[in-house]
Amino acid sequence: MLAAGVLAGFSALSLLAYGYLSWGGAEPGSQPHLVFILADDQGFRDVGYHGSEIRTPALDRLAAEGVKLENYYVQPMCTPSRSQLITGKYQIHTGLQHSIIRPTQPNCLPLDNMTLPQKLKEVGYSTHMVGKWHLGFYRKECMPTQRGFDSFFGSLLGSGDYYTHYKCDSPGICGYDLYENDNAAWDHDNGIYSTQMYTQKVQQILESHNPKKPIFLYIAYQAVHSPLQAPDNGGQPMAGGSNWPLRGSKGTYWEGGIRAVGFVHSPLLKNKGSVCKELVHITDWFPTLITLAEGQIDENIQLDGYDIWETISEGRRSPRVDILHNIDPIYTKAKNGSWAAGFGIWNTAIQSAIRVNHWKLLTGNPGYSDWVPPQAFSNAGPNRWHNERVSWSAGKTVWLFNITADPYERVDLSGKYPEVVKYLLWRLSQFNKTAVPVRYPPKDPRSNPKLNGGVWGPWFKDDEKKKKPGKNKKGENKQKKKKNKKKSNQKKGQSLNCRSWLAGG
Ligand SMILES: *[C@@H]1O[C@H](CO)[C@@H](O)[C@H](O)[C@H]1NC(C)=O
Ligand SMILES: *[C@@H]1O[C@H](CO)[C@@H](O)[C@H](O)[C@H]1NC(C)=O
Ligand SMILES: *[C@@H]1O[C@H](CO)[C@@H](O)[C@H](O)[C@H]1NC(C)=O
Ligand SMILES: *[C@@H]1O[C@H](CO)[C@@H](O)[C@H](O)[C@H]1NC(C)=O
Repeated sequence: MLAAGVLAGFSALSLLAYGYLSWGGAEPGSQPHLVFILADDQGFRDVGYHGSEIRTPALDRLAAEGVKLENYYVQPMCTPSRSQLITGKYQIHTGLQHSIIRPTQPNCLPLDNMTLPQKLKEVGYSTHMVGKWHLGFYRKECMPTQRGFDSFFGSLLGSGDYYTHYKCDSPGICGYDLYENDNAAWDHDNGIYSTQMYTQKVQQILESHNPKKPIFLYIAYQAVHSPLQAPDNGGQPMAGGSNWPLRGSKGTYWEGGIRAVGFVHSPLLKNKGSVCKELVHITDWFPTLITLAEGQIDENIQLDGYDIWETISEGRRSPRVDILHNIDPIYTKAKNGSWAAGFGIWNTAIQSAIRVNHWKLLTGNPGYSDWVPPQAFSNAGPNRWHNERVSWSAGKTVWLFNITADPYERVDLSGKYPEVVKYLLWRLSQFNKTAVPVRYPPKDPRSNPKLNGGVWGPWFKDDEKKKKPGKNKKGENKQKKKKNKKKSNQKKGQSLNCRSWLAGG
């Protein structure tokens, strides 16, 4: 699964070398440099300090010196996590609740959704992105440089080749996918492994930047997403990631799909060397980083994230008591789901998952549901990975777990606590009332890289847009009207939550 969350600590050494840590104790009031590193598809276990066979000494050390986030949640796939990081909003509020943005779809992060780098630019930050975007590119306005980044070096898609930077979407539909700002980066491509290439780029940015000016650097490594193409011959290509002992995998709403490795490293931390067990979610970075940067959170953007800096830095209670993991109204594969199974409150055919305090409720088909023991260096084949499989009746569409007591989701309590199930189904229905329509348009043949000089890149031209405004544009207008109506309700709900927690200490 996807791991995220290193703030202000790319490598303490290289930052020191370029004078970025010279402000040392950091007087209060100064805007900190922010470095956010996001690793792609790293399993919950796939870090040395979670007991992995994969050695990660640098990460272990940075985490040990900082604050480890041990109740840190992200989304189970690439586009969803990135969209929530960059907007501070759940997918039901951006229209990206279904799957990922595919390269051939005319779709991207909605242009009217404010982004984290845009907000940081407003308060004087230089903003740079290196790595994997995966928030859509069908028109120029969707590109990272138009969504708040002063510079971009990386790929627009996911899962391309680590060396050649080619990506095939389907047989014959292939293109080059390495960019320097808005253009294919042919000239800057020396064919080296992307992790090293991106790291070199980060070093160049740090070298040429004036450390007196605050910088936001978003480094979204392609590693360790498939295809695994490690630059040396370790055991790694043989072994996939591991979420053990959590249940499920990438793409699922079991804990293995959404609970991630995360830590913060910074001289600003008051409780260095501590472990934070409070609930933290990827949407929380938006308000947390903007507040650290002395930016303003506009009254009229309703965030789903909370400012959790005091939780991380000082060990206070998290203002967050719930997480809407998702509601995906398009994913209704649970054939036996029904309104009746959801007590008339919710249609359990829909894939959804919600967490409130200790409780987690899942409906629909949450996805691949095995517990997969670490496979490292094993040739035993897939059979042994299913040793722990627990079969559940094909008709089941509701699960309830006490995640605090049972983080591995082994004991379904839905039969035992029907009142809790009803309450959580009601919460889902309340969230659903604030949802915007799903954006998941069909493929557009104009996306074919053959028509674009062999490159994946913006293909949607403005004149074409005027000629055939089609469904998309009308849809957008409709969504806007709806948004205005629902704004006030949602806002109230959120600030209420905040207050009750403050009151509760
Ligand atoms: C994000 O953009 C979508 C599509 O335009 C819109 O429906 C939604 O209300 C926006 N969300 C926010 C919170 O700005
Ligand atoms: C969710 O909301 C949509 C309207 O926004 C509605 O059509 C749908 O029936 C709702 N789903 C459930 C399960 O309540
Ligand atoms: C699921 O639905 C099918 C019919 O669609 C039915 O035959 C089967 O008994 C149901 N299974 C459960 C466990 O409810
Ligand atoms: C859930 O688990 C926590 C931690 O073990 C426990 O304190 C709490 O009472 C449990 N809730 C229920 C209803 O069992």
